[in-house]
Amino acid sequence: MCGIVGAVSGSEVAPVLVDALKRLEYRGYDSAGLATYAGSLSVSKGVGRMETLDEALGLSGMEGRAGVGHTRWATHGKPSEGNAHPHTDCDGDLAVVHNGIVENYAELREGLEERGHVFSSYTDTEVVPHLLEERLDGSLEHALRETVSELEGSFAICAVGEDGLVAARNGSPLVIGLSDDANFVASDVPAILPYTRRVKYLLDGEMAVIKRDSVEVRDFDGEPVEREEEVVEWDAEEAERGGYEHYMLKEIHEQPRALAECMGGRLDELMGEVDPGVALDRDGMEVLEGVEFVGCGTSYHAALYGARLTGEFTGLPVNARHASEYRYGPVSGKNILTVGITQSGETADTLRAIERAGDEGHAVLVLTNVVGSTATRMTDDVVYLRSGPEIGVAASKTFTNQLACVAMLAIALGRESGDLPRSEAKHLIAELRDMPSKVQRVLDEVEDVESVAESYVDSEAFFFIGRGVDYPVAMEGALKMKEISYVHSEGYPAGELKHGPLALITRRTPVVAVLTSSPLYEKTLSSAKEVEARDGPVIAVASESDEDTGRFCEEVLRVPDADHRLSPLLSTVVMQLFAYHVARELGRPIDRPRNLAKSVTVE
Ligand code: G6P
Repeated sequence: MCGIVGAVSGSEVAPVLVDALKRLEYRGYDSAGLATYAGSLSVSKGVGRMETLDEALGLSGMEGRAGVGHTRWATHGKPSEGNAHPHTDCDGDLAVVHNGIVENYAELREGLEERGHVFSSYTDTEVVPHLLEERLDGSLEHALRETVSELEGSFAICAVGEDGLVAARNGSPLVIGLSDDANFVASDVPAILPYTRRVKYLLDGEMAVIKRDSVEVRDFDGEPVEREEEVVEWDAEEAERGGYEHYMLKEIHEQPRALAECMGGRLDELMGEVDPGVALDRDGMEVLEGVEFVGCGTSYHAALYGARLTGEFTGLPVNARHASEYRYGPVSGKNILTVGITQSGETADTLRAIERAGDEGHAVLVLTNVVGSTATRMTDDVVYLRSGPEIGVAASKTFTNQLACVAMLAIALGRESGDLPRSEAKHLIAELRDMPSKVQRVLDEVEDVESVAESYVDSEAFFFIGRGVDYPVAMEGALKMKEISYVHSEGYPAGELKHGPLALITRRTPVVAVLTSSPLYEKTLSSAKEVEARDGPVIAVASESDEDTGRFCEEVLRVPDADHRLSPLLSTVVMQLFAYHVARELGRPIDRPRNLAKSVTVE
């Protein structure tokens, strides 16, 4: 989820592109670059922040009235000048910037290399200028149309060359900006807001040919598309949040796309195989005696979920440990795989736990969102979450991608160990594939969550309960509520409620119960009935097709039906929205809760 800008103007575009890129800084990035065209191509790029890059980018040499720029947030290949965009073709006369992931890039690159193309980066993006070069026959638009038909995955692409500026969208946003003396393209409205408020949004499967005095929109078949011009009313700050009131809400709504990127290219439904992002060594699997997951806060909840699924799919002994406890506690066994989960890759407790696991001779795997973070330098085996930058302190889209990653890892381990039958793996993979659209459906029903949250905003405390794979969801629901609303909240395994917390239940202590269909549904429902019998209101998160829950619980929030082992990805989104709307009603500073930091680098 990097930033794209492009412009065709009556005057020099380099200063405009740099200014537009600076307006995308809030999204986070590790490197940046731009390319302009004036008879020949000028490209400039570097690692670091724009203010330090300004000089390095050397605007003085960059002439041209058409150009593209990019802020990169690494997903394939570390942050480096070589990996920064724009990327160029062999002749160096067309430049490309790209957001998203080209899933079949390895295969495309192999073919291109066989045909003599020389690559200079480790990115998936670089296949695009080379494909364009092969197809360029007078019209960049035509070459781009042919190129996108070969790409699998999600993308927003902008290319500049002799033939001007073209853009294509499939799964990653692009907006066209229109003004009297220049036209623009950008991944985000804030980039172009100082230059124009007149926009046309591209939809998936559409391309644009952007000239100084005209913009043509066509579909990928070349058919013209009539797109209404709109006027953006947001101020700059609202625009950075994509029109949402808080970054957290924006990030909650980004989950369908983030999940799709996370799973892109990693699922093989036909074969029932998953590529978890690292090579699992078959010999290693034979001697593997157990798997341990470690993390802090939200990442610990992903660890709990990962342990549960891995145990079920492999039959191996599994464990989830708080990283802060792992460092000093007993560590068992030698042939253990330790999975360190940390979205930032910088949490001190988790880094120390990873170090300890390595010292004990364990195989260590890291799951993180930040390429180049400290955790990634502690092991060769790293799986990236591909969530894009998360600005809200409370994790949302990084958590759902952690859940997806540990689910993929558990399936892969289950297949390697021989304990998970192929047919079962195929079913789980098909279910995973459906998750982005099911999460979208949860988000589309947000009004229900909002009105329930409003009804319980004066509560003294909240309890969150769930069993099995839903226990981590309950824990995370409680953590989200504490972090952003400051209302006391506790997550419990549903069966534990009667062993103490029931004494606290009153009309003013609602219990949020994960009651999606699962083999343990009846058991959790009994716990819910115990609460209702003591006058405590139960807010159930239930499956769409379930007709029972509503008879016993005061409120029911629905999620689409799904395999119970994967429905935590859906229930979690309801929990996030619930916490968000309670916090919003209470007027809390949702993106920056008191006393909390996005990454805690002290023990
Ligand atoms: C801090 C944050 C939590 C987060 C935890 C782990 O405590 O406030 O929200 O879950 O760190 O962060 P990590 O980056 O390691 O996932």
